[in-house]
Amino acid sequence: MAKHSAQSVELVGVIKHFGSVAAVDGVDLMVQAGEFVTLLGPSGSGKSTTLMLVAGFERPSAGEVRIGGARVDHVPPYRRNLGVVFQSYALFPHMTVAENLAFPLEGRGAGRNEIETRVTGALARVRLEGHESRYPSQISGGQQQRVALARALVFDPPVLLMDEPLSALDKKLREQMQLEIKHIQRDLGITVIYVTHDQGEALTMSDRIAVMNRGKIAQLGTPEELYEHPADRFVADFIGETNLIALVLGRVDGGEADAATSCGLRLRIPAPASGSAGAPITVSIRPERVTVARVAGSEPGKQWHDGRIEEVIYLGEMRKYRLRVGEIGLIAKEQTRSEGGGFAAGERVAVGMSVADLGLVRGSA
Ligand SMILES: Nc1ncnc2c1ncn2[C@@H]1O[C@H](COP(=O)(O)OP(=O)(O)O)[C@@H](O)[C@H]1O
Ligand SMILES: [Mg+2]
Repeated sequence: MAKHSAQSVELVGVIKHFGSVAAVDGVDLMVQAGEFVTLLGPSGSGKSTTLMLVAGFERPSAGEVRIGGARVDHVPPYRRNLGVVFQSYALFPHMTVAENLAFPLEGRGAGRNEIETRVTGALARVRLEGHESRYPSQISGGQQQRVALARALVFDPPVLLMDEPLSALDKKLREQMQLEIKHIQRDLGITVIYVTHDQGEALTMSDRIAVMNRGKIAQLGTPEELYEHPADRFVADFIGETNLIALVLGRVDGGEADAATSCGLRLRIPAPASGSAGAPITVSIRPERVTVARVAGSEPGKQWHDGRIEEVIYLGEMRKYRLRVGEIGLIAKEQTRSEGGGFAAGERVAVGMSVADLGLVRGSA
């Protein structure tokens, strides 16, 4: 059994209907060989179905799936040779750890010696040496997920598919496993398509993230691109926390424009690519980009408004403020400092926003 080098995965115009439901509704996605791409979205957005189409457990209603550049429409799942770790794809309870790992190798006709070498190597990779003869019930949930990962990797697949593999684990273990999976992926140079509804997980692990909404890819980009330049309201809201402000466009001059809320609060914003005075627009600003101060500053490009603190939420490393500026509500976040400081509910403050931090997004607020 040869070691497979990483392969690309491509979806072209893929649609999958279940009855009248379009679970996947026209997905185009090119995952490069060796890349870690995450499908991120809320429950029901079509992530698992997309993965099933790649794995071959579902057939597309329209469009093509290509692995390593070749169409695989008529290739059954086991011939696609992909490693899979699904939340529901549990270990065989009546088999030891070693037998679980040997299973996909036996199916591929590997010999005794090769099986032993590979099982030992795969267990070392997930740091479970010495657990060969345990049964799944005799190891922890985190260790079981490691074994499932080792089983998916034991035949050196060119592509690894993972569907919410960590969702049953507690937060600490989940975060540790996220980094471990990422390191294993880098070491092996394997292509990974990973599914999660957890944006923190996606940001931590991915080279690129495809944000899914209602069977479509709302935006595809690096974690930084998605966070800094969300294309629409859905992405801005789903990745991190954000303030969305509904405005009516005023005069555009050069790179900037005037805009106002329906109650007349005026803001300077980056000029939109299109749209004339009177057009409705939405801007997004991240809470950590909203400055709260006792008095307005004078940095160029930054505008200040009078505001009032409505609520203070202490989050440990951060303090979160619910603010009122005119008729709009905003969330601001600031780093907590050792010398205390911070503002109290009811205080009148100056609220600063840089023009450059106000991003235009599609869709209404
Ligand atoms: N086997 C199926 N039969 C009927 N509907 C399905 C099936 N699988 C998924 N769906 C529907 O397709 C949509 C997308 O589901 P899914 O891909 O599981 O989303 P996600 O993994 O993002 O939660 C949902 O509306 C779901 O109910
Ligand atoms: Mg799912």
